[in-house]
Amino acid sequence: MAHPSPGAAPATPDGEQAETRERIVWVAMDEIAVGMFAHPLSSASFLIARKDQIRTLRETGAKGVFVDLAKSSPASLPEWARAMAGIKRETGAGAGAATPRVNRRAAAFDRARQVLTRSRAPMERLLRQARLGKTLEKKEVIDLVEEIAASVEQCASAIISLSRIKTVDTFTYLHSLAVCALMVNFARNAGFSRADVQELGMAGLLHDVGKTVVGSAILNKPGPLTPAEMTTMRTHAQAGHDILSRGGQFPATVLDVALHHHEKIDGTGYPHKLAGDAISVPARMAAIADVYDAVTSNRPYKEAWLPGESLADMFSWQGHFDTELMQTFIRSVGIYPVGSLVRLASERLALVIEQDEADLTRPLVRIFYSIPQREPVTITDLALAREQGDSILSREDPRKWGFLDWDRRWPEMIRLD
Ligand SMILES: [Fe+2]
Ligand SMILES: [Fe+2]
Repeated sequence: MAHPSPGAAPATPDGEQAETRERIVWVAMDEIAVGMFAHPLSSASFLIARKDQIRTLRETGAKGVFVDLAKSSPASLPEWARAMAGIKRETGAGAGAATPRVNRRAAAFDRARQVLTRSRAPMERLLRQARLGKTLEKKEVIDLVEEIAASVEQCASAIISLSRIKTVDTFTYLHSLAVCALMVNFARNAGFSRADVQELGMAGLLHDVGKTVVGSAILNKPGPLTPAEMTTMRTHAQAGHDILSRGGQFPATVLDVALHHHEKIDGTGYPHKLAGDAISVPARMAAIADVYDAVTSNRPYKEAWLPGESLADMFSWQGHFDTELMQTFIRSVGIYPVGSLVRLASERLALVIEQDEADLTRPLVRIFYSIPQREPVTITDLALAREQGDSILSREDPRKWGFLDWDRRWPEMIRLD
């Protein structure tokens, strides 16, 4: 078990926890070899197939990388790592083949990702029909909402955080799915009935359906809109309402949200400059969910804001949102949303992997980096709500720490177990 390798993280062979944790080990750069499955902090995971890939890793300045023992060829591993891989096999199931430990969180993330992928074609079909002036089928919409609601029920943070990660190609449909998921989660937390939760989810899914009448040159413009373009953009609220009115299938709430999700509490929104209570609760909720998803997503013209910062910022905007609903929304996504990078009092960096209902300021975190040593440490999970010795000091910007492409990296890190 002992491994004399200089850069390697100390092993903690204390039962089951150590066993699962040690499938991923920190390997010093000197010991990196062809055949290892690497999880570098600065790029996507990959199987090292050629020597020049090792050189590239070295050139990043990293002192080593995380290596997945199970996915690496045994011959590539140093003696101590082979020993660790062997120990895992022996303790896995007592006798015979090891039973893979069910990783609930990884499974929830996989399922959420499947839901998002599967929903793409039907969502894009709905938008296409809207563009062609056809009546949208309520049944198709309900099927989509039900699938997303089921995913929210199983693990809200998985579908919410994954739908935040968008590209130019996937923005439109993912924004619809994200606002749907956020609305379902919001409504559940606010104590709405099951039927209302579904209706609010539907309203979220269709809130921007009117954007199908706005040209893509304006929708994807990399930069601020001119006043004329802004006027065109703003027509999407009324257009959405009109599209959804055709056929008379959709409930009033859904039409109302399409029309009024850009109204502001102080009466400066559009299209009707409604103020305060004149804006319905569903429209006030959608305004929050819509802006949260918009600011936390990458757009052609701006980098995404960090989820936690966005909540703090949005809370400080005077006259924009309903303050009480904003508080409920923050409770529903957490003060440190899943995927946030945080700095702990113990001078370590960690990834927020799960909310703790008992205390939103003390979520479950996955520690992976030592600040004084400026290098990764063996991954350890810590339930801050139950661990009085440590706490979150601040949210951190992953870019500042050189963790490039963080939005692709953290979902992978969550799967490690
Ligand atoms: Fe909108
Ligand atoms: Fe929107």
